[in-house]
Amino acid sequence: MRLLLTVIKRTHKPPVYTSRQRCLSSCASGGLLPLRDEALILGSSRELVQGLGSQVEVRTAFVTEEEEGAFLRELEPGLKKKRYEFDHWDDAIHGYRETERLRWGAACEEVLNRVRSAAFPEGSPLLGPVHVLDLDKTGYIKPHIDSVKFCGSTIAGLSLLSDSIMRLVRENTSNEWLDLLLPRRSLYILRDRARYNFTHEILKDEESVFNGQRVPRQRRISVICRNLPG
Ligand code: OGA
Ligand code: MN
Repeated sequence: MRLLLTVIKRTHKPPVYTSRQRCLSSCASGGLLPLRDEALILGSSRELVQGLGSQVEVRTAFVTEEEEGAFLRELEPGLKKKRYEFDHWDDAIHGYRETERLRWGAACEEVLNRVRSAAFPEGSPLLGPVHVLDLDKTGYIKPHIDSVKFCGSTIAGLSLLSDSIMRLVRENTSNEWLDLLLPRRSLYILRDRARYNFTHEILKDEESVFNGQRVPRQRRISVICRNLPG
């Protein structure tokens, strides 16, 4: 069952933890800079975080508990019929099941409209179906860049059921990175250079540490809106 993987073909590379660890220790005295959004974004340098500006956004409490419940009620019956996929070692995602959905109930549609107006310019043509990715507690997403053939300049995702950490690493310059703390019920948006020139990944539970603080990963459902290539 690789529904979207055929459409959203990811290019991915091996992780780059070594360079990052090197940077973490060598910049420990002043390199880790909490900036914007109550320190939900940390980067290898102030220049990088500031340079990306609004191309990386995390908005906390974008979804209420009730709305999260509405998504679950709508998604859980379909998801439960699928098994988590662990065995495709070539995939960018490990320990996941996924679906896509075009038509939503009113409560979810209202949230999705808020996501669309927060993330996309008015009139920007969007990928019709919304992508739903259910990561098992042990699941994770390896570094990849979403297909430039099938998706446009902006990726906007809701994180439900669990906090998590998204890591962005500049392609071919692995000592340039950002870590995003994605609290449960937050929205993240990646645009332009953050979307095209950086890989993104969701850390596995064991590696889920933000600014020295452990961020336990539970089962996580993401609901992702994308636009079409321009
Ligand atoms: C993807 C992806 C991130 C997320 O499916 O391409 O990067 O938040 N997902 O689940
Ligand atoms: Mn992706």
